[in-house]
Amino acid sequence: MPDPYKFTDHYHDVIVVGAGGAGLRATLGMAEQGLKTACVTKVFPTRSHTVAAQGGIAASLQNMTPDCWQWHMYDTVKGSDWLGDNDAMEYLVREAPAAVYELEHYGVPFSRNEEGKIYQRPFGGHMQNYGEGPPVQRTCAVADRTGHAILHSLYGQSLRHNAEFYIEYFAVDLIMDDDGRCTGIVAWNLDDGTIHRFNAKMVVLATGGYGRTYFSATSAHTCTGDGNGMVARAGLPLQDMEFVQFHPTGVYGAGVLITEGARGEGGYLTNSEGERFMERYAPSAKDLASRDVVSRCMTLEIREGRGVGPKKDHIHLHLNHLDPKVLAERLPGISESAKIFAGVDLTREPIPVIPTAHYNMGGIPTNYWGEVVNPSKSDPNRLVEGLMAVGECACASVHGANRLGSNSLIDLVVFGRAAAIRAGKTIDRESPVPTPNEKACEKIITHFDKIRNSNGNTSTAKLRDKMQRAMQEDAAVFRDQKSLEEGCKRIDGIWEEMNDLKVSDRSMIWNSDLVETLELENLMACAITTVHGAAARKESRGAHAREDYAGGKFSGRDDENWRKHTLARVDENGKVNLSYTPVRTQLLSDGIDEKLIAPKARVY
Ligand code: FUM
Repeated sequence: MPDPYKFTDHYHDVIVVGAGGAGLRATLGMAEQGLKTACVTKVFPTRSHTVAAQGGIAASLQNMTPDCWQWHMYDTVKGSDWLGDNDAMEYLVREAPAAVYELEHYGVPFSRNEEGKIYQRPFGGHMQNYGEGPPVQRTCAVADRTGHAILHSLYGQSLRHNAEFYIEYFAVDLIMDDDGRCTGIVAWNLDDGTIHRFNAKMVVLATGGYGRTYFSATSAHTCTGDGNGMVARAGLPLQDMEFVQFHPTGVYGAGVLITEGARGEGGYLTNSEGERFMERYAPSAKDLASRDVVSRCMTLEIREGRGVGPKKDHIHLHLNHLDPKVLAERLPGISESAKIFAGVDLTREPIPVIPTAHYNMGGIPTNYWGEVVNPSKSDPNRLVEGLMAVGECACASVHGANRLGSNSLIDLVVFGRAAAIRAGKTIDRESPVPTPNEKACEKIITHFDKIRNSNGNTSTAKLRDKMQRAMQEDAAVFRDQKSLEEGCKRIDGIWEEMNDLKVSDRSMIWNSDLVETLELENLMACAITTVHGAAARKESRGAHAREDYAGGKFSGRDDENWRKHTLARVDENGKVNLSYTPVRTQLLSDGIDEKLIAPKARVY
C-alpha cells in the first residue's frame, strides 16, 4: 500500500452509506432493533438532497378523496410504462400508508386538512378509478418543504436510538472478499484526512441519484452517483440507467425545482400564444399528466416555435390566479425560489420554466427487500451477500421507465424500512464482523492514490463540463439513434480523457479538488452506462422517448422485444457490456386483478 496511508478500523453490524431519506430511514430501522449501526455520509444529514423534495409523499390515506392501494398500484404500473416489477410496486403501495403514519408519529409536522387529518394534494399521473379520473388527492405534504421535514425527524429519531454518525466522510469503495461478498467500505475523513475501514455484516448503499451527469439538473451538486460508481467498480451491474426523468418545471436558467404541487394546487402551463396547451395533448389529466408526458409536450411546443421569452425557449407556469393565502400556506418555498431564482413575484407574474433533469429511475438492482441482486442467466435473483441498496441509487424496480411525482419520497421510506426489517431477520448478531480483505483494500488505496496524484493536463471542472454538455445534448428528453451514438462516442472519449486529469491539490484535508475528481469518476460510470443502455434500447418507453421509434400500437413501446430490464457492466477501460433480465410480473397477493394492470396504450 502506498505511504503514508494507514487504516483506522471500525466494526459494526450495519453500515449505511448516505443520510438522505432512505439512508436515515434504514439507519433508524436498524438502530431501533438494537443492531450496532453507523451511518457514513459526505454531507451533514439534514443537508442531504432529500431536503430539496418539495411537493410530498404518496400514500392512499383517503383523507381528501376516495382512494385505495389498488388505484395507487395501477397508476404506478402505468406511470412506469410497464417496466416496473409488480412485486416491488405492490409492496410499495401497500406499505405506503403505514410508512407515512410512522413518519407522523416520528414527528413529521404534516400540513392538515379541515378535519385535522394529514393534508393531501393532487399530483401528476395519480388518478381515481384505475386511471379513469378525476385526479386523486394522494400526495401528503408538509407545505412545499416535505423532504426537509422528513430529514429532520428521521435524523433526530436515529440519534435517539444511538445510531452513530460519521459525517463528512467520503466513501471511496466497497470492500469485497474473494467470494464476492461485501464486507465493508473504505472511506476518507474529509476533515482530518484520515482513511477508515468500516467493516460490517451488512453495507446499505443510500447514496442518491446522479443528476449531476447533466448540465441542468434540479439535483444538488452532491448528487454524483457515488454508490453506483462503487458498485460498477466492484464489477456488479447497474440496471435501467437509460431512464432519466426530466421534471417539467425547473426554473429557466437556474434549474431549481418548482414543485409539481404547484400544478396540483391549480397552476397551469401556457405557450407564447397564451394557450393552455396541455389540454390538447392530455385532455383528461391536462397539466397533471405524468411528468415524462408533460416534459415532452413542453419540448414540442418550444420546438414548434411556441416557446416564450426573447429566444422562445421556455414555457410559462401560472400561479398568479390563485388565492395569495393558498400560495402563502401551501407553497411558501417556491414563492421564495421564484423570487430568488427567476426574479418573479408569483402572485402577479408567471414563472419561466423548462424541463430539467430531475431523477434517475435506474440504479443498483435490488429485490423489494433492498438486497442487491447480480442476476445470472441461470439465476435472475442471485444475491450479493452483505450488500443492500435503497432510495434513488437503487432500482427495485418500482418506477420502471418513469416515476410518478411523490412516489420518490415514499420509495425512500418504504424501502429504507424494508431493508431494516430484512436485515433484522438475516443478520446473525452472534457472529463476528468480517475482517477486511487486505488485498482488496490495497487495490482501493492504490487507485485512490493514483487519482490524488493525477498529473495530466485537463482539469476536473473542464472534463465534468464536457460530460454534462454531452449528456444534455445527446441523451435528453427526445433521443434518436444518431444523437445517442454521438453521445456514446463523446462519453467514451471523455472516459479516455480521464487518464489526462490533473489534480492540483495533493493535500488530504478538505481537498475539494480530489473530492470532485472522485465524484467525476462515479458520474462517468453512470453517464457511460446511461448512453450505451439508451443507444441499445430500440423503442420508446416512459422517459426514454426515441423519435425514431414513435409509432405503432403503443406509440413506440415494443413490449414483445423490450419489456425487460437492461443490466450494464462497465470495465476499467470503459467497455460497457449489456445484458437483459425479465420484468417481474408476479404479484405478491391476489388483492388486485392482474388483468387490470396488463400492458396497454398509455394515455392521460
Ligand atoms: O415536484 C415535486 O415536488 C417533486 C416531487 C418528486 O419528484 O417526487
